[in-house]
Amino acid sequence: MQLGGKTILLTGGTDGIGLRLARQLRAKGASVTVTGRTPARIAAAEEEGFAVIPADLTGPEGVEAVVAALGTRPIDILVNNAGMGAAHDFRIAPPLAEDDEHTLWLNLHAPIRLIAALMPVLRARKEAMIVNVTSGLAIAPNAGSPVYCATKAALRSYTQALRGQLKGTGIHVLEALPPVVDTAMTAARSGSKLSPEECARQIVSAMERGKDEANVGMVKVLQAVHSLSPALARSILLRF
Ligand SMILES: NC(=O)c1ccc[n+]([C@@H]2O[C@H](COP(=O)([O-])OP(=O)(O)OC[C@H]3O[C@@H](n4cnc5c(N)ncnc54)[C@H](OP(=O)(O)O)[C@@H]3O)[C@@H](O)[C@H]2O)c1
Repeated sequence: MQLGGKTILLTGGTDGIGLRLARQLRAKGASVTVTGRTPARIAAAEEEGFAVIPADLTGPEGVEAVVAALGTRPIDILVNNAGMGAAHDFRIAPPLAEDDEHTLWLNLHAPIRLIAALMPVLRARKEAMIVNVTSGLAIAPNAGSPVYCATKAALRSYTQALRGQLKGTGIHVLEALPPVVDTAMTAARSGSKLSPEECARQIVSAMERGKDEANVGMVKVLQAVHSLSPALARSILLRF
């Protein structure tokens, strides 16, 4: 898809991968509206010239606020990027129900509800796109964040079904699967991490090339291992 001139709604565009996506999409000539919660990040994004819709997407009110703020604005591309991941280990402590609820809402319910709410708007465009950011952990889970992995695997499944439904329409469906990326989400982790700029670059390239999946960085290797042996891919990731 030619990104120049497109109007984009990008959730979680005030930091991390989302902010880099917003910058790179704008550099391609798109007009980008981002969502976020933290006032200082919202102000910084506005200072960079992005339109910002403040919204907490851990509940239906946040989704409704985004849809209301968009009004009749035409949207060509919806990027469901906002996400969170709480680590949890039953061998150490019980989970915090609120963390689980928020993770389920932000990572799964919010994208599904935004897609449903914006479908008429997307259908009205000559060509449109839905980008759902999942994770390499949607292919096989690690042991450290069961709810996060479950939401990403569920969103991957939803995305594949949606692509099947929308085949032959003007709406393209892309799933972006990042590896471990150097953002606030992974600040507590050591080891090698992809830069958020490079992650965004690979996602934008997949959008331009009309790919079904953006398997970013090491996720390409994970996909290859998984295609040979799903059990091997699972056993490798369950060590983490
Ligand atoms: N980083 C990785 O290693 C990695 C790997 C695989 C997949 N991913 C996925 O990539 C996406 C982006 O991750 P990231 O690492 O860039 O995260 P990040 O640096 O933590 O940024 C998350 C963005 O979402 C916003 N956000 C967070 N909670 C929100 C909420 N409740 N409601 C609305 N917006 C919220 C944040 O702004 P505020 O906090 O100000 O709201 C920020 O703009 C996520 O879906 C994540 O699961 C990341």
